[in-house]
Amino acid sequence: METRRIHAVYFSPAGATRRLVKHLANALGGGQAQVEVWDFTLPARRVNSFRAEAGEVVVAGMPVYAGRLPNLMLPYLNTWSGAGAYAVPVVVYGNRSYGNALIEWRDLLQGRGFLPVGAAAFVGEHAFAPALATGRPDEADFAVADEFAREICRRMDAVEAGKPLPPLEVPGIGAPDYGGYYQPLCENNEPARFLKAKPVTAETCVACCHCAEVCPMGAIDRENPSLVPGICIKCNACVRECPVGAKQLADPAFLSHVRYLEKHYTAPAPVEWF
Ligand SMILES: Cc1cc2nc3c(=O)[nH]c(=O)nc-3n(C[C@H](O)[C@H](O)[C@H](O)COP(=O)(O)O)c2cc1C
Ligand code: SF4
Ligand code: SF4
Repeated sequence: METRRIHAVYFSPAGATRRLVKHLANALGGGQAQVEVWDFTLPARRVNSFRAEAGEVVVAGMPVYAGRLPNLMLPYLNTWSGAGAYAVPVVVYGNRSYGNALIEWRDLLQGRGFLPVGAAAFVGEHAFAPALATGRPDEADFAVADEFAREICRRMDAVEAGKPLPPLEVPGIGAPDYGGYYQPLCENNEPARFLKAKPVTAETCVACCHCAEVCPMGAIDRENPSLVPGICIKCNACVRECPVGAKQLADPAFLSHVRYLEKHYTAPAPVEWF
């Protein structure tokens, strides 16, 4: 088998997708190939579009938001060009459900000219409800990733031996609307409406601006980081990364949804690959 150029490509505000995609890409290279990383989490990294070439392999990871791909990333993802490169669409979900994100991701990549050779839904610690899938991906998840990588290599070897690449079947509701977006619920099962919620900043803030640097939406004011004038996607990066714990998402409906998730979705969810 000739050495293939491998790309680890991901959007990962809270880090689970990054860890998983990097592990999988390294496993695909068998430790031999150099993995090229394209981390497009921060706005500055989304200025240039991602391009691959035929014969290369792209492990492409996205977190699941509301059972779908994060919708504000779609315009950027639709600038990509696959040019016949193999793609491994990966979604990482926070122990509730990956909904129809994986089929949406497969379709998007296919539409951009990639050849999906295998797809997977992994589980990662829930970005804003860390009692769900705490610490995942863990060693058991990485072992599944290793097994999946071996299967992907077998499939690519078969293509290069002259066999046609079969269509990649992925479960779920497909185009045009991929089943819509999940409606979060409060503890009392009523809809939890927190679309416009933004993190608040406690007086303990030391104005280090780290939160503004890690925000994938560039939503936090760099001159006055206690202000959040931009769009917030509730990714929790600023909350997790603040060195003094000064940023919090305190919206009552949001917190009620967190408790709803903790009540219903703590049993370990499975990894699935196709
Ligand atoms: C806005 C938002 C919506 C989410 N929606 C879902 C969901 O529908 N199902 C689920 O299982 N996890 C959901 N999660 C959890 C993430 O999919 C999970 O934490 C993932 O690991 C985040 O990836 P990252 O750590 O790479 O940022 C959501 C997280 C956020 C921030
Ligand atoms: S990271 Fe925390 S301490 Fe630093 S500016 Fe942001 S809120 Fe303030
Ligand atoms: S302000 Fe919102 S989008 Fe930005 S890092 Fe914080 S939670 Fe994420």
